[in-house]
Amino acid sequence: MAKLWTGRFSKETDVLLDQLNASLPFDSRLYAQDIQGSLAHAKMLARQKIISNDDLLKIENGLKSILNDIEQGKLVMEGAEDIHSFVEQELTRRIGDPGKKLHTARSRNDQVAVDLRLYTKENVKIIQKLIGSLIQTLCESAKMHTETIMPGYTHLQRAQPVTLAHVWMAYGNMFHRDYKRFENAYDRMNEMPLGSGALAGTTYPIDRYFTCRELGFEKPCDNSIDGVSDRDYCLEIGSASSILMMHLSRMCEEMILWCSFEFGFMELDDAFSTGSSIMPQKKNPDVCELIRGKTGRVYGDLLTLFTMQKGLCLAYNKDMQEDKEAFFDLLDTVIHSLQVMIPMLQTAKFYKENMHQAALGGYINATDCADYLTRKGMPFRDAYKITGEMVSYAIDRKKSLNDLDLDEFHRFSSLFEEDIYQALDLITCVTKRNSLGGPSPDEVKRQIQNLELFLKECEIHESI
Ligand code: ARG
Repeated sequence: MAKLWTGRFSKETDVLLDQLNASLPFDSRLYAQDIQGSLAHAKMLARQKIISNDDLLKIENGLKSILNDIEQGKLVMEGAEDIHSFVEQELTRRIGDPGKKLHTARSRNDQVAVDLRLYTKENVKIIQKLIGSLIQTLCESAKMHTETIMPGYTHLQRAQPVTLAHVWMAYGNMFHRDYKRFENAYDRMNEMPLGSGALAGTTYPIDRYFTCRELGFEKPCDNSIDGVSDRDYCLEIGSASSILMMHLSRMCEEMILWCSFEFGFMELDDAFSTGSSIMPQKKNPDVCELIRGKTGRVYGDLLTLFTMQKGLCLAYNKDMQEDKEAFFDLLDTVIHSLQVMIPMLQTAKFYKENMHQAALGGYINATDCADYLTRKGMPFRDAYKITGEMVSYAIDRKKSLNDLDLDEFHRFSSLFEEDIYQALDLITCVTKRNSLGGPSPDEVKRQIQNLELFLKECEIHESI
């Protein structure tokens, strides 16, 4: 295998070393960023009179033809140690000596640092866009379900009545924070390492502000050792991704339960469900299970990245080549999971009647009964105790609270009047919970509007 680092060595490297050392099979996906970085570097070298304009023209044409051939499938990326070596070798093969000048005032450590940042920035933008679509999907569904009553759970026990819209807005707020986490990490990583050299800069009169502008970074990173050593942005993006996956996973777990015969709250579209090889009746929520499963995989990738970096003295160490497979897998998994989640949600059917039926059982209006007595003057603690006794009484008779007649109510308190039935009605229970953040339809509409306003601001931001 041809190497960039001949001269010092009198022997060919062992083939086993070549195999261990090779990163081209996985870093070949950085070809576009590598060429983009080289184009900016070459342009800067010519502006600074480090190479001639004639050389620049040849380098530019050569790099563009390589990019084109790779994209058309005419150039197979093989026969080199890594993507940086491959592009340079191919360039020199095509244009001769000017190709050998491209690496002036630059190191592969420089290249891998800038390539991976460019790649990460693009992927973060894709993830943010997808999170935006997911929030949009939740808002749209929520608007149709502000009065779709269902049981809210704690400890997976029916607790108090909520609406489907209220639940969707809970997830909407989580995804909003996820979006912000990616935005923050993006802002911090928006610094350009190119020009750091191997670790100690260069003696050539380079212009890092020029390459920074060319490559669309906010500013050049301020220290060359840090520039080639820093991968902590991968940890930040990996952490934001892990939290996002945890949210997706919780939502998936919820939907797996809701799709079960026992809950019957929803059904996934056939296009997003799978069957069983032996049980003809089965319709399985595999997509949800896969996203839940892949959450563990993303955590694993993050741990790989953390562990890879913890023992490294400055600056570049070859261990850092091990970041790529884990990091690519992490980004791919997050993007794929979001891409499937959105249409799965858009095409799902929700069974309002079953949700309502479930909300009628389980005494989820018991708090409302206690609140009724409290409003009529009884201290809440006493009202709580009496309601508990009423629930026990109703359970023994296999009745709900609403099924008790007024005489039965009076056995527990003379404060009960005919209007108790209205107070225990689930619509009333939800509508009255209009405290800020609560499930009342008007309050949830406000929550939806808030998220829609955020989505609009993102759109405005993107179109600038
Ligand atoms: N392929 C390497 C990586 O992915 C970059 C090359 C830098 N290598 C070096 N030996 N200085 O990290």
